[in-house]
Amino acid sequence: MAAFLGNLRNVVIASFVLAILLVGVYCTTQGYDGPAFELFVLRFLHITCGVMWIGLLWYFNFVQIPTMPKVPAELKGGVTGYIAPSALFWFRWGAMGTILFGIVLALRNHCLVEAYTLDLSEGTAGWPMVPKYLAIGIGMWLGTIMWFNVWFVIWPNQQKALNIGGKYPALAADQKAAAAKTAMVFSRINTLLSVPMLFSMVAAGHLY
Ligand code: HEM
Repeated sequence: MAAFLGNLRNVVIASFVLAILLVGVYCTTQGYDGPAFELFVLRFLHITCGVMWIGLLWYFNFVQIPTMPKVPAELKGGVTGYIAPSALFWFRWGAMGTILFGIVLALRNHCLVEAYTLDLSEGTAGWPMVPKYLAIGIGMWLGTIMWFNVWFVIWPNQQKALNIGGKYPALAADQKAAAAKTAMVFSRINTLLSVPMLFSMVAAGHLY
């Protein structure tokens, strides 16, 4: 058992197998409804990627950033050289999976344009015509801004600050510090946006 649990790949596969068993419970108790199930799978994958992304965002902000000043100098390299680059890998690809599944979900719900235009595409008279589109649109904009920050601000600056992949071997210490500061500020902005983003996502489906 310890050998099985020691292998992350096996554990992840087993976790998905357990979820598939629950699909069996759904089919036998509810009956299979193809279109509804397909939409559910997209929503499930969207939220799974979102948990990976926002979980790591909160790990950086609640754990790593505040703890780094207390880590002894000789141990800091373990975090910056090994833990942070690995966390950044799952962080940025979690963000990519979240936005891709989110956009497909909006397309499947026939509300991509309505949501991204905050329902203004339906006209200004009596705006919002469909408050649910406004709610999911706010969430989608916040999530999209956060995704942009991850891929185009935080990741490039972390590559510089931590010399990830050996791309910036000769960067001066002050340039590294400036890059780390920018990454930290945008990571904090994403933490600021994360709660209203999640509120809008969940509210759109359950309050509207
Ligand atoms: C990055 C851009 C994002 C886009 C374009 C997006 C898009 C969407 C869409 C269209 C829905 C409605 C799904 C439906 O009702 O079928 C939704 C729901 C949801 N999203 Fe996002 N999303 C994004 C980011 C996130 C993030 C980062 C999270 C964090 C976990 C998240 C969590 C959720 C949750 C929990 C729901 C509610 C599902 C439900 O109540 O059934 N989303 N999203």
